[in-house]
Amino acid sequence: MRLMMYLALLTAHFSYAQENINPSRDSLQIDPLLIPLIDTALAPFYHGVASGDPTNNSVIIWTRITPEKELEELPVMWEISENRFFDPIIKRGSSSTGKFRDYTVKVDVTGVESGKRYFYRFSYDGKFSSTGTTKTLPENPQKMNIAFASCSNYEWGYFNAYGIMAKDTTLDLVVHLGDYIYEYGVGKYGDTTIGRLNVPSKEIVSLQDYRTRYSLYRLDKDLNKVHESLPFVTTWDDHEIANNSYMHGAENHQSATEGNWTDRRAAGTKAYYEWLPIREPSDALYRSFGIGNLINLVILDTRITGRTEQIYDHTDEAYENESRTILGQRQLEWLKTELQSHHYWKIIGNQVPVGPMIVPTREGKHPYMDGWDGYPAERNRVLHYIKNKQIKNVAIVTGDYHSAFAMETPFSDTSVAVEFVVPSINSSNYDEHTDSATVVQAKNAYLAYNPHISYCNLQDHGYVKLKINKESILSEFVYITTKTEPDHSVKSTNRFEVLSNSNKISEQ
Ligand SMILES: [Fe+2]
Repeated sequence: MRLMMYLALLTAHFSYAQENINPSRDSLQIDPLLIPLIDTALAPFYHGVASGDPTNNSVIIWTRITPEKELEELPVMWEISENRFFDPIIKRGSSSTGKFRDYTVKVDVTGVESGKRYFYRFSYDGKFSSTGTTKTLPENPQKMNIAFASCSNYEWGYFNAYGIMAKDTTLDLVVHLGDYIYEYGVGKYGDTTIGRLNVPSKEIVSLQDYRTRYSLYRLDKDLNKVHESLPFVTTWDDHEIANNSYMHGAENHQSATEGNWTDRRAAGTKAYYEWLPIREPSDALYRSFGIGNLINLVILDTRITGRTEQIYDHTDEAYENESRTILGQRQLEWLKTELQSHHYWKIIGNQVPVGPMIVPTREGKHPYMDGWDGYPAERNRVLHYIKNKQIKNVAIVTGDYHSAFAMETPFSDTSVAVEFVVPSINSSNYDEHTDSATVVQAKNAYLAYNPHISYCNLQDHGYVKLKINKESILSEFVYITTKTEPDHSVKSTNRFEVLSNSNKISEQ
């Protein structure tokens, strides 16, 4: 029954798409299956605009042009202003793109002022893009409001959480912790009854596959809107390439049928850099952003840079081997330097839970082996360093887990940091797969097995907003009402405070 329903939906989806292809647009540089999703009034800037990686005096601005025929190279103009009327234009310039980078455009706008909101837009062939707003980092902020997001899956429903974020005029920045896309084919991981089906329909492996999947996601109105409204700082988790990835492979990569890992990783990372507003060139994704003397925003890559292969059985003799790494030597040494920075808060944007995460199962319990739990030697190196060097005010913000947690990070009988694990934008957690009684049971078990965890929500979706000043961090979990239809209402929020120099979390 389930299979028949899925096949019917799939057929309906494809035939709808094909009927709507205008013959004169056969050569439009977008997957034909995406044509029904585009708003023709936006031509040729169907994917909107985005900005990211702001510094005191620069910011990346991004767009994608969809030309009506294949072009090796095409020119594009850009301009920025302090007002939405572009009067006066304070900076303008030209750039180019083409087939070689999937017609995406990225400009590093330099020489702008710190702590300012700017309006920006692109033009090509006499047409303007939508107008984006962005903010440069302030030089000496008293406070910053940063949203943290992870795990948005097109098939699991509407990106209402992004829509809510886009309307929050108090936000300065969005940090995306990864699983910005998912690699699966139609129906493999999602709810196809909602009617948002993956394109391509198969699992993405080639460069063109990854590009098309980003194109699908970026046609989503909510994701489009939040990019248009706020600058992003992004890092990837596993699904930007394949589930449970590490340096040399992934659980969801089979070389026999999907080619060699190096090619797939190169395809996934090239498409990521093309479609996300990240500064290029960069020899590594991990990087940091100093925000006055208030925050050192430290962004990790715990997937591709230095992660050795997962061991899924914690009784395996090699589990605690010192040679197993999640950061790798170079990133670890860099992190130590970043932790020593002069900033009041060291906010670590991270993929998988750092603190112990004992997972309850039907058979009992086990550590979360794809998280830092799976790399105890590396975790000890980091936490020992924090304790030994008496580094204060480390707040870790984590994605990947699809559920919400607030915890104090234990090490050697004390708490050395705090950690907030953010809920997914919409990827499934417990209630999509179990009944409500089981959700309650699981929650109780998490709290019992993990005494350092003070808060746990296994069933809601949304994001976390941190309000940061010198005295404290106020962490707000923002939950959506539904993901099965467009709806920008907030179902509920939970707030927690971390006072400076405390490493303690208290519910507000
Ligand atoms: Fe995820």
